[in-house]
Amino acid sequence: MKSQLIDPFGRKVEYLRLSVTDKCNIRCFYCLPKGFNDFDCTSQHLTQDEIVRVVGAFSELGVRRIRLTGGEPLVRKDICQLSARLSGLPGVEDLSLSTNASLLAQHATKLKKSGVARINVSLDTLRADRFHEINGGKLSDTLTGLMAAKAAGFAPIKINMVAMKGINDDEFEDMVAFCLQHDFTLRFIETMPVSSAGRNASEHYLPLQEVEDRLKHRFDLLPGVMPGGGPARYFQIKGTRLRIGFITPISQHFCETCNRVRLTATGALYLCLGHEHKIELRQQLRDGISDEMLKQCLIDALALKPERHYFEENPTQVVRFMAKIGG
Ligand code: GTP
Ligand code: 5AD
Ligand code: SF4
Repeated sequence: MKSQLIDPFGRKVEYLRLSVTDKCNIRCFYCLPKGFNDFDCTSQHLTQDEIVRVVGAFSELGVRRIRLTGGEPLVRKDICQLSARLSGLPGVEDLSLSTNASLLAQHATKLKKSGVARINVSLDTLRADRFHEINGGKLSDTLTGLMAAKAAGFAPIKINMVAMKGINDDEFEDMVAFCLQHDFTLRFIETMPVSSAGRNASEHYLPLQEVEDRLKHRFDLLPGVMPGGGPARYFQIKGTRLRIGFITPISQHFCETCNRVRLTATGALYLCLGHEHKIELRQQLRDGISDEMLKQCLIDALALKPERHYFEENPTQVVRFMAKIGG
């Protein structure tokens, strides 16, 4: 079914990033400040029924891909049940999840059975001390979670590595070797100035062309594609199955092909990661909005979708934390 969600620039929306909680069990410094604890009360979150209703409306309008995000989505207690209901909705063809994997060991098999097909895992370093410095967590928890996901049969598994000067720029080749060994896809990401935390990380910003050039010296990179419909540009290392993606929101933005919107755990629909434009759905749901009105509301919301972000021109624009909106 063709998407009925079309913005003023003619872009069709067929991908919903659904943040199921703003809470996270670790604190990547580019996302949340150390010690941050000002999360929403769980009572402010959409209930499982409310989420299923909104996603149902999106899917009836042609949204085929749903990505569960957070905060850390596995912190939400009903994540497997919610996934099972979402993957069963007619029209939902691709249910995926972005996670730090530290709680994945206990959830992997059940999530797979619930219809989550693809998993993306944040992993910026393979060194335990550095891992702890970056996010306060334990590398071994994330690696155990990753291996459980592999054993459960998730494919592809994509590793998200935020590439940062002076933080992990001596580990790109090591991460390539790790992903080759485990048959993971590797994506490099440029830091975005989302919130004060993202802006603090900007001093470590590394244009990914430098990473691409460096890897091209070592490996034969052939242009390629990957399932997902996201913003990464992919290469494959010749003679291997390894794919490497580059996500370059700053040096080479991809807004003209944007196909997505974002729903926060409290039911705010954001039209762009780089702006504060949003509409609040929770009260309307609780006031008994009809299915038809809900769908019309989503169609109308698309009129607010901005043409592009202004991370470079106006880096102080986005004040909310990345964990609120799930990246
Ligand atoms: P698939 O391609 O479906 O596998 O997922 P994805 O890469 O879109 O999702 P993931 O959650 O793994 O996000 C990877 C990185 O891309 C994160 O840093 C996101 O913030 C970033 N990202 C995803 N969508 C957008 C977008 O529309 N705009 C910008 N600027 N960044 C995005
Ligand atoms: N810049 C770039 N990527 C970020 N993420 C979180 N905060 C930022 C930021 N400021 C990434 C995480 C995760 C994905 C969902 O978003 O590393 O992989
Ligand atoms: Fe948590 Fe993800 Fe933010 Fe890291 S990037 S603090 S894992 S929500």
